Amino acid sequence: MPDTVLVVDFGAQYAQLIARRIREARVYSEIVPHDTSLDELLAHRPKGIVFSGGPESVYAGWAPTFDAAVYECGVPILGICYGAQLIVSQLGGEVARTGRGEFGRTALTRTAGSPLFADWSSRAESDVWMSHTDSITKVPQGFVSTGSSREAPVAAFEDAERRIYGVQFHPEVVHTERGQELLERFLFDICGALPTWTHTNIIESSVESIRNQVGGDRVVCALSGGVDSAVAAALVHKAVGDQLTCVFVDTGLMRAGEGDQVEETFLRQFQVDLVHVKAADRFFSVLEGVTDPEEKRKAIGETFIRVFEEVASAHNDARHLVQGTLYPDVIESGTGEAANIKSHHNVGGLPDDIEFELVEPLRLLFKDEVRAVGEELGLPEEIVWRQPFPGPGLAVRIIGEVTRQRAEILRAADAIVLEEIRRAGLYRELWQSFALLPVVRTVGVMGDGRTYAYPVVVRAVTSDDAMTADWARLPYDLLERMSTRIINEVDGVNRVALDITSKPPGTIEWE
Ligand code: XMP
Repeated sequence: MPDTVLVVDFGAQYAQLIARRIREARVYSEIVPHDTSLDELLAHRPKGIVFSGGPESVYAGWAPTFDAAVYECGVPILGICYGAQLIVSQLGGEVARTGRGEFGRTALTRTAGSPLFADWSSRAESDVWMSHTDSITKVPQGFVSTGSSREAPVAAFEDAERRIYGVQFHPEVVHTERGQELLERFLFDICGALPTWTHTNIIESSVESIRNQVGGDRVVCALSGGVDSAVAAALVHKAVGDQLTCVFVDTGLMRAGEGDQVEETFLRQFQVDLVHVKAADRFFSVLEGVTDPEEKRKAIGETFIRVFEEVASAHNDARHLVQGTLYPDVIESGTGEAANIKSHHNVGGLPDDIEFELVEPLRLLFKDEVRAVGEELGLPEEIVWRQPFPGPGLAVRIIGEVTRQRAEILRAADAIVLEEIRRAGLYRELWQSFALLPVVRTVGVMGDGRTYAYPVVVRAVTSDDAMTADWARLPYDLLERMSTRIINEVDGVNRVALDITSKPPGTIEWE
């Protein structure tokens, strides 16, 4: 087991970012809920503990706390924001409702030396990122204050002997100058953790645990064309080789080239036993006459299950099913234990009544780690960096009834959008970029003739997690190239529009 630093979660979005930053320093980090018992926490044998920020005030009756015996257990602790205030309030210092908070970039004045500041410049002032309404006004006995800001009399403090530290600001946020270095000083100098969480080690330990779980049994994996299922499959293949069968169901609703890419990579490059099911006819036939988005999803999900069952029954000796569940899903489901199959999973939902044991090789990884592992395993860039794609595929981007002809029009237009985005060097910067086909017709004129054809809508968004998104300000010349090419090269389209709606109030997809 690599050296582990635990993040106690007092507000999910803060905790995840801290854990990611710790892992960027190559130290393994896991998130534990604040109601974890001290015994359970210590069972992980942590080299250090970080208390995350959180949305509450320590004064709120419902504010989360942690067993105060943690301060006596000898493991170094770093409290961040709410976590720092909690340490102060539990150990007898003072947190005051001053009514004057700080939000955003703030000047921190260092008032004493601290091992946390070892990498900082000799200037006494640095920019840090703050987000607090309450302020620490007095440190507990045995602590010294090491920094302050305009509205935070104590913005950093420590008890070097007990190895308990606190900062009011957020070192995990990029706007904090030298924030990552501060975390590294805590991890390496104070906790004595070793930077052993490397991609090579991740792969080695995954391979070992997959082998232990699977033994000599057979395993199936549904490939969706996306990065998660591809990396999961590549890991399982590295672990158990020929015991793995991959299933790629071509629904007729995939992006251009996806099926070929999957064949090229898994069949030819990795020589995986791959079943490529060409099921487009079935999917188009169940979608006939369906216009409601949720009905589309249901029809596609059910058909997917039927197809998958047929393939699975031909491999009825398989006992394990690979799923590309990631760590954020595990944290959000709050179990940390064996996950259930989620109906919104990328492959469109799998049957509950298939008796498989799940193999989830990515369940401890964040997306950036999945990509790094994928690269290390030799998966092609197109798969490793592929933008997210909804399970029901192009069906939820055809606004109206789905037909084969409309799917073909949309696929061709979408391929042009993606090609131009890649050529402009913007593919990785954008969360998603794609084409949509509303089933309406508009009048146009081409050559000497009047046309009456579909419009295509271009949608490109930036986002961190798809919960919120902003429409991307694409350069005009790029938009012009897309528009000209789509109209010239795709039969059946005579107009191109751009969606300039953020989320909220819009969603990323139209359906
Ligand atoms: P919305 O449209 O809700 O999408 O802003 C958020 C993210 O989820 C993806 N999405 C789906 N993914 N099955 C999926 O696997 C679905 O039915 C589905 N609908 C939306 C969407 O592409 C975006 O990344």
